[in-house]
Amino acid sequence: MTDPLLAGDPLLTVLREIVGHRHVLTDPGTRRAYEVDWTGRFQGQARAVVRPGSTDEVAAVLRACRAAGAPVVPQGGNTGLVGGGVPLHGEILLSLRRLDGLDDVDRAAGQVTVGAGATLAAVQAHAAAAGWAFGVDLGARDSATIGGMVATNAGGTRLLRYGPMRHQVLGLEAVLSDGRVLRRLSGLLKDNTGYDLAGLVTGSEGTLAVVTRVRLRLVAPRPRRAVAVLGLASVERAVEIATALRVDLDALEAVEAFFDDGLDLVVERLGLSPPLRCAHPVYLLVECAEPQAGPDPLDALVAALAPLGLGDDDVAAGLDPAGRARLWRLREGHTEAINALGGEIGAPHKLDVTLPAARLAEFTTRVREVVAAIAPDARTFLFGHLADGNVHVNVVGLAPEDERVDDAVLRLVVSLGGSISAEHGIGTAKARWLALDRSEAELATFAAIREALDPTGVLNPSVLVWA
Ligand code: FAD
Ligand code: MLT
Ligand code: ZN
Repeated sequence: MTDPLLAGDPLLTVLREIVGHRHVLTDPGTRRAYEVDWTGRFQGQARAVVRPGSTDEVAAVLRACRAAGAPVVPQGGNTGLVGGGVPLHGEILLSLRRLDGLDDVDRAAGQVTVGAGATLAAVQAHAAAAGWAFGVDLGARDSATIGGMVATNAGGTRLLRYGPMRHQVLGLEAVLSDGRVLRRLSGLLKDNTGYDLAGLVTGSEGTLAVVTRVRLRLVAPRPRRAVAVLGLASVERAVEIATALRVDLDALEAVEAFFDDGLDLVVERLGLSPPLRCAHPVYLLVECAEPQAGPDPLDALVAALAPLGLGDDDVAAGLDPAGRARLWRLREGHTEAINALGGEIGAPHKLDVTLPAARLAEFTTRVREVVAAIAPDARTFLFGHLADGNVHVNVVGLAPEDERVDDAVLRLVVSLGGSISAEHGIGTAKARWLALDRSEAELATFAAIREALDPTGVLNPSVLVWA
């Protein structure tokens, strides 16, 4: 059923002519899934949800919205965690999910061109079927889209070896707000012909252009894998071990951390078993990987762990696919378990930050104190990508609009020399703190770039906007 208030909206008439009647969603029930973010903390209403099926349709939709002065929020899989992909102020919600085409893998180059709406899992499977692999992985793989991952410069669990999304982007097709198309998809590795526009759009969170296709770098597959969860006494020890493994273990692919309280929550909420017989304050998940013809990564892992003085009760290994998946679930399950708790006591405030390695241990102690001083009844969970210095601070039990904890935590991060966003972006959630982290000259340059590419402010007007 169409919302009667929108029935006579002339912009929607034009949009229906462009994408077809059934791809302009106005029924409140059908719109709902596009209007609430993954955590439930950020929600609003769209003027309509528009689902173009081609780059030309994206261009025509943007031209029409710009002519009508209607702001647009691009959205991929809606797994973003900073409130940047949901319409908070009655914008047109532009869903890119129908652009999910996968070109044949260029086997000689180890590259592939995919539509912005292709999910990460689809790209991973497509690359694997052609004897290649994709270098970025993250827990939302079944829903997160390549366009959204480019827009947020997603990090994930393999950043240590392959870098963030930015390092996988070899070319891009993207539509400017006036409908002009930037297209450079040849994937040439050497191409010094001026500004790196793909690099500029990557990480721009839908504020500069709408990504429609992406040329991706693929990597050699490493199917021989070993995973271990280490139970440790302190964060200092975890940092020390992560450093030692980075130096000694060439096959190292991931070093992830979680704490006893988070593990208890995951075990309880997801019905899993703890990895070790006794509880430990801190856990590291370590993964090693080698090519099919390479050595057994377990040998290297055992050799690297041997001098670290860990006992049998401190290590759980996962060697076959099921055993590895069981250990990974304990780490990746944090997001889901925390969200489930949030459904009962208030959606989580998710503060994704980076600290210098030397300040990580101090931060994990001080951040709990800072939160407890402001909101003694809230629950704080810490986990993340330890080798990258990336801590996910999740605080549950606050009202969605109560930003006192966010403010105190982000100020603590900056005072310790960290970044207020490691991998999720700024979105709307952290916009008011951007000036804490970026200089006046940097922010003026941001504004000038935005003005040049989107002078009428059509694209994601509430995202990356600072006071
Ligand atoms: P959306 O949520 O739809 O959008 C995110 C942003 O990108 C918005 O600002 C939106 O406007 C913009 N956007 C989307 N598509 C386009 C497009 N085609 N063109 C221009 N702008 C666009 N993130 C990490 O970095 N590392 C992780 O390990 C990680 N793990 C996660 C695990 C879970 C369980 C969940 C729920 C999320 C996780 N995330 C992680 C966050 C999220 O998956 C990433 O930010 C992802 O890149 C978002 O992709 P998406 O398609 O869902 O984008
Ligand atoms: C993760 O590393 O699991 C993600 O970034 C998601 C989250 O922060 O919850
Ligand atoms: Zn993460």
